[in-house]
Amino acid sequence: MSKRKIKRIGVFTSGGDAPGMNAAVRAVVRTAIYHKCQVFGIYNGYEGMINDDIKKLQKGDVANIIHRGGTILKTSRSKEFMEKTGRAKAYKNLKKHKIDGCIAIGGNGTFTGGLVFESEHDIPFIGVPGTIDNDIFGTDYTIGYDTAINTAIEAIDRIRDTADSHSRLFFIEVMGRHAGYIALNTGIGSGAGYTFLPETKNTIEDLVSFLEGSLSRNKLFNLIIVAEGNKTGNAMKISKKLKKINEKFDSRVTIIGHLQRGGSPSAMDRVLASRFGYTAVNSLIAGEKNKAVGIIDGDMVLTPFDQAINKVKDIDEELVRMAEILAM
Ligand code: F6P
Repeated sequence: MSKRKIKRIGVFTSGGDAPGMNAAVRAVVRTAIYHKCQVFGIYNGYEGMINDDIKKLQKGDVANIIHRGGTILKTSRSKEFMEKTGRAKAYKNLKKHKIDGCIAIGGNGTFTGGLVFESEHDIPFIGVPGTIDNDIFGTDYTIGYDTAINTAIEAIDRIRDTADSHSRLFFIEVMGRHAGYIALNTGIGSGAGYTFLPETKNTIEDLVSFLEGSLSRNKLFNLIIVAEGNKTGNAMKISKKLKKINEKFDSRVTIIGHLQRGGSPSAMDRVLASRFGYTAVNSLIAGEKNKAVGIIDGDMVLTPFDQAINKVKDIDEELVRMAEILAM
């Protein structure tokens, strides 16, 4: 562990925003102030680090934000930070503000940026997992995931009403480029009939035999969840292919998309984000670096960035099986 004294802490949010990021920023600022540290908000993620968009934050600056979606610090996916020259500019700005360590709130891309930065420069980073995808190794949950699946389920409950009334087949596409956590648990929680995940090899033929089974039981309406990153195609494509196979499989498509990223964070996300922010600051002050905080079986843990980035958090096969059984 580093012996560096941490007196000035930078905090930023990066990558896709997630409900609860503000609660994490609030926890970082207030925990740091409690430890008599100064805190600096780095606006727009790594872009703000490069462009010197850095301002001191007081405890009042994070008042009245715990319930707000999005991120008051703004966010970006910085291409320039992927270049060595971009990181050198960022380092110069952190030095200018005498920042001793940073709390990076975001997903895999954010942690990768932190890992590369630390291999070149002497400023420690601690990561806080904030992404609706819940796809980070070393934590059971990421900030924003609980809110995102609740938002998706609420929307699907409404679709269910109209699908049932018209005895219609509906495809609902949810986010998750590489991971099916959102799709799987949205499917379970909304009582969907069938779910396409990036991790499983569902085919159109499998779907057809599921739908034929439903029809044979006189069940005409069905909700099919499609994770955007699944290998069979997006919801619109699957819907069209299905109709080509048989005209009777007429369907409607709803893409929930960025709706899942906004809105007031759930109680679970607010508490999780507060615990993460608090633990991140305490860890940085204790001399930890290059690690992401996480929650495993209810406890706060730290996972080295290289593991958090490179290890895959596998989808629970038993849950996939359960979803199929319950949809019968
Ligand atoms: O990383 C979270 C996420 O919402 C993914 O689920 C989604 O694929 C992606 O971000 C969308 O990113 P953008 O808003 O940049 O299009």
